[in-house]
Amino acid sequence: MLKINNVKKNFGGLKAVNNASMHVKKGSITGLIGPNGAGKTTLFNVIAGNLQSDSGEVVLNDEKISGLKSYELFYKGVLRTFQIAHEFTSLTVLENLMMVPGNQFGENLLYSWFKNSVVKKQEEKIRAKAIEVINFLNLTHLTQEVAGNLSGGQKKLLELGRTMMVDAKLVLLDEVGAGVNRTLLNEISDAIIRLNKEKDYTFFVIEHDMDLIEKICDPVIVMAEGSVLFQGSFDEVKSNEDVIEAYLGRGMKPKEALNS
Ligand SMILES: Nc1ncnc2c1ncn2[C@@H]1O[C@H](COP(=O)(O)OP(=O)(O)O)[C@@H](O)[C@H]1O
Ligand SMILES: [Mg+2]
Repeated sequence: MLKINNVKKNFGGLKAVNNASMHVKKGSITGLIGPNGAGKTTLFNVIAGNLQSDSGEVVLNDEKISGLKSYELFYKGVLRTFQIAHEFTSLTVLENLMMVPGNQFGENLLYSWFKNSVVKKQEEKIRAKAIEVINFLNLTHLTQEVAGNLSGGQKKLLELGRTMMVDAKLVLLDEVGAGVNRTLLNEISDAIIRLNKEKDYTFFVIEHDMDLIEKICDPVIVMAEGSVLFQGSFDEVKSNEDVIEAYLGRGMKPKEALNS
């Protein structure tokens, strides 16, 4: 579904992404791991249209998408979440979700003045969709809570919810597990698995939490120093010498590295 061919991205003299090539199969939940600074987030930024690569290409279903802006990718069903959640803190959970779909008639001043039935109908449709998403994610009790009051994990669930307001096909998740407690982490991983199975989402997941990777990801791609070091099942990754070495090289014990 997604092919990354020889992508390079430098920051000054630093080769953040250095000739990275990999692909994500349709219907998979593919993991992307690697030591801090390996280039994972930079690669996501390139895929999602938040950064322009220096060379190489990104292909979605045989269509070249490199250089497209994030809103153009949005309409192709490619969405991402951020390492730091991007919610509107003073809006409620419901309002945050209702903000997502673009091209709302209500945003057009002329339509707003007339307040005609088209606008109201569309608003009702979006509200119903948002409530469906809230229920799917077991956030019903928080529907009218302002997003700023949510816990870190609840914010991550809300981010996931934003991808459900449109017909997402490929969702890029950057560290959904960071700073999230075990209970919510399980809810997040269950939601990911359900979206994958019930709604046909393909996921590409950056994550440091190896329990989450083990539970939901196959295959797992390992990046180090801007390139792909290894790809395989979680068990293969765990026992691969090069992978252990890459984490060790960053001053981590293998157990810490692959179980932190
Ligand atoms: N906007 C930027 N400007 C300069 N250097 C950056 C920028 N973003 C990332 N880097 C550097 O690029 C390298 C890869 O970073 P990143 O993609 O965030 O890695 P990861 O997500 O795997 O931890 C790191 O050395 C980081 O410091
Ligand atoms: Mg990162």
